[in-house]
Amino acid sequence: MQVITTIAQLRARLSVERAIAFVPTMGNLHEGHLNLMRQAREHGDCVVASIFVNPLQFGPNEDFDQYPRTLDADCVKLQGLVDVVFAPVVNEMYPLQQTVFVEPPPVANELCGAARPGHFRGMATVVLKLLNIVQPRVALFGKKDYQQLHIIRQLTAQLNLPVRIVGGETVRAVDGLALSSRNQYLSEAERNEAVFLNQTLQAMRLSVLQGVRDFEQLQQQAVQALADRGWQVDYVAIRNQSDLQPASGGQRDLVILAAARLGKTRLLDNVEVSLDA
Ligand code: PAF
Repeated sequence: MQVITTIAQLRARLSVERAIAFVPTMGNLHEGHLNLMRQAREHGDCVVASIFVNPLQFGPNEDFDQYPRTLDADCVKLQGLVDVVFAPVVNEMYPLQQTVFVEPPPVANELCGAARPGHFRGMATVVLKLLNIVQPRVALFGKKDYQQLHIIRQLTAQLNLPVRIVGGETVRAVDGLALSSRNQYLSEAERNEAVFLNQTLQAMRLSVLQGVRDFEQLQQQAVQALADRGWQVDYVAIRNQSDLQPASGGQRDLVILAAARLGKTRLLDNVEVSLDA
């Protein structure tokens, strides 16, 4: 496994590769990431992981400075799973002031985008830069960041990028909490409470499968249940899988998404539900 920090060296190393599978990350790797790396092996001869905490996708009052940077430990975890780790510093990715951005689709202003203005613009911009640098045949992203995955699919389709996007299933702790680098911000009491987010979504999923169709009321009840336990809820929303628009009828493949804060930690989760199942 080679660790490369400059774009020039990465391009030289990858110029001989024909089938690259790529997993972009912000590091602090957990089993969810490692699962994507294993899946990547099925899609390419050369597996590349990137580790880059992208300043462009953090708001002024967000956790950019605090975000855990654990490159050495990450490289130990990646040993045997990937061929190349690309770990640039900020100046390598942004040597000039970035004045060209990817304008994401309008759905980027909803759900997580409503609470984090500019987040998806910064995310989409770095993802396009990374795809241009690595030029993979396949790129893999976790479904935990469901809206991010949707926006990346729109980005690559609408800008005709020659890459296939593959979504990886969310990996969970035994109690159901979705693995996330931000889970380590939780106190012990918060960690015990955190599972309630997934339980809430699972209960909603069951209601939908049992025939409940008043989605507005289901959403409101979930927000209330979380708020009653001390969560600050950004949203709980039942949307179509295909376009992430509010599920109002017709569409059978839905997804229930939520983002809520426990103390200072913002947690995300989602569950898919198919009415035909
Ligand atoms: O999901 C992430 O870790 C990041 O948003 C990504 C896709 C690596 C872009 O910085």
